[in-house]
Amino acid sequence: MNILDIIEKKKNRKELSNEEIDFFIKKYTSDEIPDYQAAALIMAICINGMTQDEIVSLTNSMASSGEILDLSEISNNIVDKHSTGGVGDKVTLIVSPIVSALGVPIAKMSGRGLGITGGTIDKLESIPGYKTNISIEDFKKNVKEIGISLIGQTLNLAPADKKIYALRDAISCTNSIPLIASSIMSKKIAAGASSIVLDVTCGNGAFMKDKEQALKLAKMMSLIGKWSNRKVTCILTNMDEPLGKNIGNSLEIIEAVEALNGNMAKDVKEVILTISAYMMKLSGKFSNISDNKKKALEVIKNGKALEKFKELVKAQGGDVTYIEDLDKFEKAPIITPVISEREGYVEKLDAGIIGRAGVDLGIGRMNKEDEIDSRVGIRLEKKIGDKVKKGSILAYVHANNPEKAENCIKEMLKAYKIGNKKVIKKNVLEII
Ligand code: URA
Repeated sequence: MNILDIIEKKKNRKELSNEEIDFFIKKYTSDEIPDYQAAALIMAICINGMTQDEIVSLTNSMASSGEILDLSEISNNIVDKHSTGGVGDKVTLIVSPIVSALGVPIAKMSGRGLGITGGTIDKLESIPGYKTNISIEDFKKNVKEIGISLIGQTLNLAPADKKIYALRDAISCTNSIPLIASSIMSKKIAAGASSIVLDVTCGNGAFMKDKEQALKLAKMMSLIGKWSNRKVTCILTNMDEPLGKNIGNSLEIIEAVEALNGNMAKDVKEVILTISAYMMKLSGKFSNISDNKKKALEVIKNGKALEKFKELVKAQGGDVTYIEDLDKFEKAPIITPVISEREGYVEKLDAGIIGRAGVDLGIGRMNKEDEIDSRVGIRLEKKIGDKVKKGSILAYVHANNPEKAENCIKEMLKAYKIGNKKVIKKNVLEII
C-alpha cells in the first residue's frame, strides 16, 4: 500500500477501504507522509466527498490515532458539547461552567480557530497563564476535583485530527461534511464522552451555509454517534450574523464572563440556555428542558457558574484577577468606530464578511504557523433588528495597526445592510 495509490483512487472518486484510510492516518500522524501528500488527499476528499463507510472508518482511525480516555472513574456518563464553528461563538466558555455548576462533569477538548471561525483554545489562552496543554492526569484530576477541565489538542488525544485540522485550515479545506464530521466525532470519542450535544451552525459565518447542508452534517454526526454507541443531540443554530457582541479572543472571554455575570445578549442567551438544557438532559440527572433552562439561569443569578469558571481558570494556571477585573485585559492600540451612513434597521449583518475581516485583523490564522493577536477584534453595537440613525456607531474595530483598522471599517460597512424592514432573527433553528 502506498500514499500515491490512495491519492489517485480518491482523485478518481473511488471508495477507499478501511485499511487504506487507516494507513494514511497512521503514517501521517507519525510524520511518514509529508504535508504536501496529505494536502493532496485531503483536497481530493474535500472535492469528491466520502461514503458513509469511509467517514466512519476515518473517524475511527482518527480517534484511535492516540489514547482513548476512560473517564469511568469520574462518571459513567460524561457529557460533552462541540460546535461546528462560528464567528463570535463563545458558547463553550459560558455553557461549560453553567452545566458543571449544576453537578454535570465537563471534560472537554476544544480546538483552535479554523478558517474564519474562532477557537475556544485561542480564546482561553488570552487569559494570562491559562494552560491548555496540561497532562492527561491533571485533566482527569481537575474534572474529578472541580468538575471541569477545558483543554486543547496538545495531549495524545486524536493527534491525527490535530494535524489534519491545521492542514485543512491552511489549504482551504474547512467546509467539508466528511472532514468536519470525522474531526469532531473523533475528538469526542477520544476524550471519553458518552453523550454529546452538537451545536451545528448554519449561515454565512458557518461552514454549512444553508439549513439543508447543516442537516446533512447533523445527520452524519448522529449516525457516527449511533455507530460508536454515543448519545447525540444536534442543535442547529443561526450563524448568519455573529453570535453575541464581541468577536476576538480576549474580547470573547470578556463577553463570556459578562454573560456568566448575567449580562447576556439576546441571541447568546437563547443558544446558551438551549445547549445547557440539552446537556443537562443527556447527563440523565435532569429531564425537563424548560426546568433545565430555569436551573441554568439560577446558577448564573446566584454566581455559582462564574465561580466555577474562576475555579477552572485557577486550576489550569490562569490569572483569576483578570476574570475579576476585566479591565486588566490588554487592549488593542487602536479602537475606532464604524459609523452608519444611513438610517433604518439592521436587516443583515454578514458573519462571513466579519469573520474574514477578523482574520485580517489577526484574530485567526492565514497560515498554520501564523501568530494571532489576542487583543484585536470587533465589538458590535448594533445587530439585526436594531434601529440606527445616520451617524450612529454600528461597531468598534480593535486593531493593532491603522491600515488594518481602515480595511476592517470598510469591510464592516459592507457587512451591515441597513434597510426599512425590522427583521426578527431566529437563533435556534432545529433540534434533532
Ligand atoms: N470543529 C472541529 O473540531 N472540526 C471541524 O472540522 C470543524 C469544527
